[in-house]
Amino acid sequence: MNNKLKIGIIGLGGIGYSAHMKAFNEIENCEIAALCDIDPSKFERFRKEYGFNNFYTDYKSMLKKEALDAVVVGTSNDTHKDISIFALESGVAVLCEKPVSRNKNEAFEIQKVIDETSKKFMVGQCFRFRNQTEKIQEIIREDKLGEIYYCHGSYIRQRGIPGYGTWFTDKKRAGGGVILDLGVHLIDYVWFLLGKPAFKTVSAYTYGGIGKRLASGEMIGFKGSAWPPTYSGLEKNIFDVEEMASIFIRFKNNVAFHLEVAWAMNIDKASSGGAIFGSKGSVTLNPVIYTHEDKDNMVSEELPFKLEPSHRNQARKFIQFLNGEIDNPAPIDDALKIMHVLDAVYESARQKKEISINTK
Ligand SMILES: NC(=O)c1ccc[n+]([C@@H]2O[C@H](COP(=O)([O-])OP(=O)(O)OC[C@H]3O[C@@H](n4cnc5c(N)ncnc54)[C@H](O)[C@@H]3O)[C@@H](O)[C@H]2O)c1
Repeated sequence: MNNKLKIGIIGLGGIGYSAHMKAFNEIENCEIAALCDIDPSKFERFRKEYGFNNFYTDYKSMLKKEALDAVVVGTSNDTHKDISIFALESGVAVLCEKPVSRNKNEAFEIQKVIDETSKKFMVGQCFRFRNQTEKIQEIIREDKLGEIYYCHGSYIRQRGIPGYGTWFTDKKRAGGGVILDLGVHLIDYVWFLLGKPAFKTVSAYTYGGIGKRLASGEMIGFKGSAWPPTYSGLEKNIFDVEEMASIFIRFKNNVAFHLEVAWAMNIDKASSGGAIFGSKGSVTLNPVIYTHEDKDNMVSEELPFKLEPSHRNQARKFIQFLNGEIDNPAPIDDALKIMHVLDAVYESARQKKEISINTK
């Protein structure tokens, strides 16, 4: 008997192709049964590379015709809510890409339908599924850091605006820029590693001037970028989101967290990473370096871990969650809190002042 879970993937762009198709194709206990994108030109590489042939241009038809157990929503941010709700109401479980929505209100609407339908819903916060996560959690659990008081994180590209001139840089469709694209990863990850403490305040600064200059059509350093600007007709002048943000978060337990994210910055090279600092030691996020006191000296040791694609780990966790083997590793309640914080981040930048948050 074939009791593999049947998965449909909606959105066959960057993440659908490079992460979800590959991940679900590689793991056990599931099979990819149908694929969907409004743009049929996206089908070709799935035909060629995977010999796949069951495509739809309308996710509603796909959900009506196919007996799917779950769908992956890997479309532009403006569509996450409607597609997720339609899937849940069709009796199908959902793995929805981050950010779960453009704002807190949309996340709240999704949460309501999850409650009404009792269908399973997980958010693609893929950092949580990195192999080093358990290692970092173990260091914290064993009290090797002492009293944790500060964290920092950064995700900075020199020239790397994804999908410049498409939905990515259109605030109406994306909900925001680098904060919703990269900031959401770091904020969720550090909060998760800290054991999800209550948020207290946020203060943020944002900037979007480099992206705006690109709208003039000059390359201003983007020629060799891994994300070259994709001018697509009339959309090419749209850049009304932030490309850089500096964010300071206080938690109610008196831990502070500073992060910097940028799609474009006039910096010598790209970098990403972070660390959690305690009274007895610290641990970095990637690679995992544990630094601590050893009598009169300071010692740093790099802790090895198996490096596997986080999207494959995520897909495996999703299947385990659907099969009832584990609890939801990235539930909507967490995503709703994070969207609440991100709304406050934008509000703080707009008002140029610290904002209180009460996510309960
Ligand atoms: N977890 C990660 O590391 C990660 C990385 C990249 C992107 N993402 C997220 O994945 C999502 C997609 O990003 P991307 O880079 O793949 O974007 P993309 O623009 O490359 O691809 C999106 C695809 O969705 C399709 N689409 C849009 N509306 C649709 C609809 N109603 N029905 C079916 N298809 C539709 C588009 O035609 C496009 O092919 C975003 O929410 C983004 O934040 C996550």
